[in-house]
Amino acid sequence: MSVVNAAILGFGTVGEGVYRTIQSHQEELEAALGKPVKVVAVLVKNEHKSREIETDVLVTTEIEEIFNLPDLHVIFEAIVDKEPSFTYLKQAIAKGCHVITANKEMFCYHGQELLDLAQKQRVGVGYEASVAGGIPIIQTLQQLLNINNVTAIQGILNGTSNFILTEMREQKQSFEAALALAQQKGYAEADPGNDIYGCDAFYKLMILSGLVFGEQPDLKSVKINGITGITLEQIELADQWGLRFKHLASIEKKQERLHASVTPVLVSQSHPLYHVEGVDNAVNVTGDLVGDITLQGPGAGMYPTASAMVEDLVHVLQKPAGEKARNKAASKIIKENGEQDAS
Ligand code: NAP
Ligand code: HSE
Repeated sequence: MSVVNAAILGFGTVGEGVYRTIQSHQEELEAALGKPVKVVAVLVKNEHKSREIETDVLVTTEIEEIFNLPDLHVIFEAIVDKEPSFTYLKQAIAKGCHVITANKEMFCYHGQELLDLAQKQRVGVGYEASVAGGIPIIQTLQQLLNINNVTAIQGILNGTSNFILTEMREQKQSFEAALALAQQKGYAEADPGNDIYGCDAFYKLMILSGLVFGEQPDLKSVKINGITGITLEQIELADQWGLRFKHLASIEKKQERLHASVTPVLVSQSHPLYHVEGVDNAVNVTGDLVGDITLQGPGAGMYPTASAMVEDLVHVLQKPAGEKARNKAASKIIKENGEQDAS
C-alpha cells in the first residue's frame, strides 16, 4: 500500500481529536510509516450536525458504506456502548482491517474475542486509549510482561472523578458544577454516570487484568463505588488533616486468586497517588523484578486520547503480521492447544 487509508467511527471529542491529529502530524506519521495516512471516511450518528471535515472525506451514518470502500486498512473506533461497536470491529477484522479502539466498555467485555479474531486474521488491535487516556500503560505492560510477574496494579483510572475531587477541594466547587466543567472539557463519558459511579474505572481495571493476569475476576464479584457520596464538607475536613480522597482501582493476585476493588479512599501525603490531581490518571504497577513503577499523565481529553490512538496506529502497522494480537491470555491458549505461537 502506498497510502494508509483509515476510517474513524465517531466524531465526538475522541474521533475529532484523531482526525485533527492525523492532519496535524502527517509529517511524523510519514516518517514513522514511510507513507502518508489518509482519513477516507467518518461514521456519525447524527448527519445534521455541522463538522469541520474536508469535503473529500465520506461522512455517513451507514457502516456498510464504509466497509464497501476499496483498500481500507485501519478503523479507529470512538463511539459509545458495547454495541454496535463490537459488531463493527468484528466486521472490520473479518475484512482484514487493523482496528484501534478507545471504547473501554466494549473492550472490557469483548476485548479477548477481538484479539483472538485479529490473531487469526493477522491484523492488529490497538486499545491503548481504552485505559488511562494518554498514558502508554498498555505498551508499558506489554513490555513488562515478557519476564516480570506483575502482582498488583493500583491506579486512578477515571479522569472525570479525579478532576471533580480536585475542583471541589481546590476551588470549593459544588459536585454538580465540577461535573459540568468536566463535561464541557470533553473528559466525561456521554453518560457521565459511568464516571461518577465508578463503572468507567472498573472497565479499565478489567482490561488491565486481562492483559496482565490473562484473566478477569468474576465481573459481578467486584465491588464498585463511585464518588457521588463525597461531600464538600468531607473534602475540607480531610484536607485539614492532610488527607485527600482518591478514587482508586486496585487489583492484586494472592494465592492464585484475583482481588479487585474500585472505590474512593482517603490517602495521606506518603501515598504515591496523593499528588495526582485534576484530570490526570496514574497507574502504579508492582512487578517481581522491577518493583514499583508509577506512570502519570492526562487521563482524558481530546489530544491525550488521540495521542494514544495514533501512536497505536504506528505500533500496529510496524509490527510484523502475527505479533499483533498478542496478550498473555491469547498466547497461553495457543500454546496450550499445541499450535504454533505466531508471535
Ligand atoms: P462523544 O463526544 O459523545 O462522541 C461520540 C461520537 O460517537 C459522536 O460523534 C456520535 O455521533 C458517535 N456515535 C455514537 N453512537 C454511534 C452509533 N451507534 N453509530 C455511529 N456513531 C455513533 O464521546 P467521546 O468522548 O468522543 O468518546 C468516544 C469513545 O471514546 C467512548 O467509548 C469513550 O468511552 C472513549 N474515550 C473517551 C475519552 C475522552 O476523554 N472523552 C478518553 C478515552 C476513551 P454524533 O456526533 O452524530 O452524535
Ligand atoms: N470519561 C473518561 C474519564 C474518559 O474521565 O476518565 C477517559 O477514558
